[in-house]
Amino acid sequence: MARVVASAPGKLILFGEHFVVKGYRAIATAVSLRARVTVEGIEGNWIELHSPPLGLKAKVTLDLKDPSVEEFKVYVEILRALKASGYSIIPHRAIVDSEMPIASGLGSSAATSVAYVLAYTTLLGAPVSREELLRLSLEGEKVAHGRPSGVDNMIAVMGGTIVYRRGENPRYVDVRIPGDYIFIVADTGIKRSTRSAVEHVLRLAESLWDTVEHIYIAADRIVERALKALTRGDMELLGKLMNLNHGLLSAMGVSNMNLDMLVNIARSRGALGAKLTGAGWGGCVVALARREDAHNIVGDLERYARLAKIVDVNAPGAVVEDIRSK
Ligand code: PMV
Repeated sequence: MARVVASAPGKLILFGEHFVVKGYRAIATAVSLRARVTVEGIEGNWIELHSPPLGLKAKVTLDLKDPSVEEFKVYVEILRALKASGYSIIPHRAIVDSEMPIASGLGSSAATSVAYVLAYTTLLGAPVSREELLRLSLEGEKVAHGRPSGVDNMIAVMGGTIVYRRGENPRYVDVRIPGDYIFIVADTGIKRSTRSAVEHVLRLAESLWDTVEHIYIAADRIVERALKALTRGDMELLGKLMNLNHGLLSAMGVSNMNLDMLVNIARSRGALGAKLTGAGWGGCVVALARREDAHNIVGDLERYARLAKIVDVNAPGAVVEDIRSK
């Protein structure tokens, strides 16, 4: 039986989360943690969905009725979108794996959706264009998130680093990270709802706009400066800007004790900058450090975080990693 393995990267929001909701800019980058989907043709009249990290398995009929396992709804929605676009639905097994913790703001769900569409269409012998990959994978995300901004999917498809503003096409940023600097991601292990954090920030902003507007303007200036620091490879400046951005997010009430603890551990061990990334109230922090300090920082973070890892940013987008025919 033919078998295809495809993968796609997760994302980190480096600057501007939350402020982006009200039309200011944000910067997101593809991270070297990937979701990986293996799709293989099977004998039988059904589709088998399997998630080893979640310990879940389910069978879905070829008429794509809702699956018994809630977590697999996304994939069935993707198959429905593929069917509506003229792709045939064939019996197959899909094994979905991810190096990212789920619901932690690293875009694991978008990356698995993208990897699934790429692996399945490649198995059919009709791999999709990048535009189609984005459109079809977004159908899955609508089930997972209601109204996704699309940034996670765009990063998962294309990789790299983007600056974006609501309602405008994102722009790619030519990033230069000197080899002696690294990024670290640490996960609080606390799952949180992006929607409620976003609502909290919006309520605060709307009730105190004349005061809070300056925080939004400052966040946008940080993005402006960060773009220069990223293209010039000025990591000392980038670290300072990360610290400032964390302070502003904290002012808007989306940090908490666990996030602040990880941020402070990273900084006290020599990180040039550290901030929460994504919606806050849980999920992950990202730190920037000199390579020589990375080991100590990760070691200390590991004592308090569910996961602490050195990662590359500006990582490549979705790829077919392996094809075995028959
Ligand atoms: O769901 P997360 O953790 O990737 O964060 C979303 C980023 C926000 O700016 C908070 C919301 C949004 O839609 O941009």
